[in-house]
Amino acid sequence: MIVGLDIGTTKVCAVIGERNEETGKLEITGVGVAPSTGLKKGVVVNIEATLKSISSAVEAAEMMSGREVKSCWAGIGGSHIDGVNSRGVVAVTGRNRETREIGKEDVDRVLEAARAVVIPMDRQILEVIPQNYIVDDQKGIKDPLDMIGVRLEAEVHIITCSVTGGQNLIKCVNRAGFKVNGLLLQSLAAGHAVLSEEEKDLGVALIDLGGGTTDVLVYLDGAPYSSITIPAGGAQVSSDISILKKIPFDYAEKIKTEVGCCWAPFLEENGDILIPGVGGRPPQPIPRMDILEVIQPRMEEIFKMVKEKLGKLPLNRPLGAGIVITGGGAELLGAAELASHIFRLPVRVGKPRLSGGLVEECRSPAFSTVVGLVLEGFDREGVTVSGPESHPREKSEPVVGKLIDWLKREFF
Ligand SMILES: Nc1ncnc2c1ncn2[C@@H]1O[C@H](COP(=O)(O)OP(=O)(O)OP(=O)(O)O)[C@@H](O)[C@H]1O
Ligand SMILES: [Mg+2]
Repeated sequence: MIVGLDIGTTKVCAVIGERNEETGKLEITGVGVAPSTGLKKGVVVNIEATLKSISSAVEAAEMMSGREVKSCWAGIGGSHIDGVNSRGVVAVTGRNRETREIGKEDVDRVLEAARAVVIPMDRQILEVIPQNYIVDDQKGIKDPLDMIGVRLEAEVHIITCSVTGGQNLIKCVNRAGFKVNGLLLQSLAAGHAVLSEEEKDLGVALIDLGGGTTDVLVYLDGAPYSSITIPAGGAQVSSDISILKKIPFDYAEKIKTEVGCCWAPFLEENGDILIPGVGGRPPQPIPRMDILEVIQPRMEEIFKMVKEKLGKLPLNRPLGAGIVITGGGAELLGAAELASHIFRLPVRVGKPRLSGGLVEECRSPAFSTVVGLVLEGFDREGVTVSGPESHPREKSEPVVGKLIDWLKREFF
């Protein structure tokens, strides 16, 4: 049994996944969701509120599956996440000194060399993900094990988080009564759940439109290349509706999710919608187009901020697979069309792509991260879940466990 726990800005979500011994497929047996009030832009600002949300989400998932949760794989994301590319080089000592066959120790040493970058005291390495290996002059090698060479070089993507950010998250989960097996980057998990290997190879930007932040993970040649966070998300869209239409935030959120749209051609049958009256005033009808005129500029702004940041990346070729949008915001009617118009690239909505025993609720893009956490959890615990739609991924260095150990040693 693997439990994924996605602690987001608007919702906390727990999913229990089990491997069906007969089919070998992953089955989601429990899902629990609770509103989240203790985070700002993906960062814990209120421990008590966050732990309550965690408890209710896990309890609901336990109730559905009839299993008791003891530990989980928790997602981490938000404005304190940063990513850099680095490289390391070592001389091959090899299993067999004469043939210079690359062994696991050589791979471990080169990854250790690549992670030796200077990072500020208040930041901690969360993941070191190998992108490519170079053996002597041979570039673009995905798995150098058993190859023969003298010099081994690794190109890696290093993801860092603020030490306190990670520490507070672990504290919330522990205080809610659960052990953290590992902290995993939310967008990496979402990528695992929604992207195909072909998309990662061709180059793709995964945009997770969350409530508090918009997190982008760019893949090139099958591996993460860059991570970007924009400190704006769906909450800003609802807040704009609330301010401009003078209605409470909750009404604005409801209007956005139920009848909102950000692509004008979809509103050919432009009817009126009822805006609830506040303070005893009667409800007022307003054209749906009026709401679009509030939503679209903010969504455009978010996509343009992403485009600007993507434009600054030193990519050596275009993103062949375009853009995949996911997260709750990707459910907004017209979001993919607007994004395609802005990026001038093909855009699709990414939903968790699992076949076996998936609870209907989990098919929404808002569940990409949490389903991905379960998949990553299976991978990292060495359990293979098969099925046509699961995406095996190259294992990254088990630095997560090291981070947890370090945090525990230092702070608990
Ligand atoms: N049908 C819908 N139409 C439009 N927006 C939606 C819809 N469903 C959810 N959203 C929006 O998606 C956002 C929440 O997305 P999600 O659940 O992915 O966020 P989160 O993981 O809690 O936040 P974050 O990732 O920023 O920490 C909210 O702003 C919500 O209004
Ligand atoms: Mg999220």
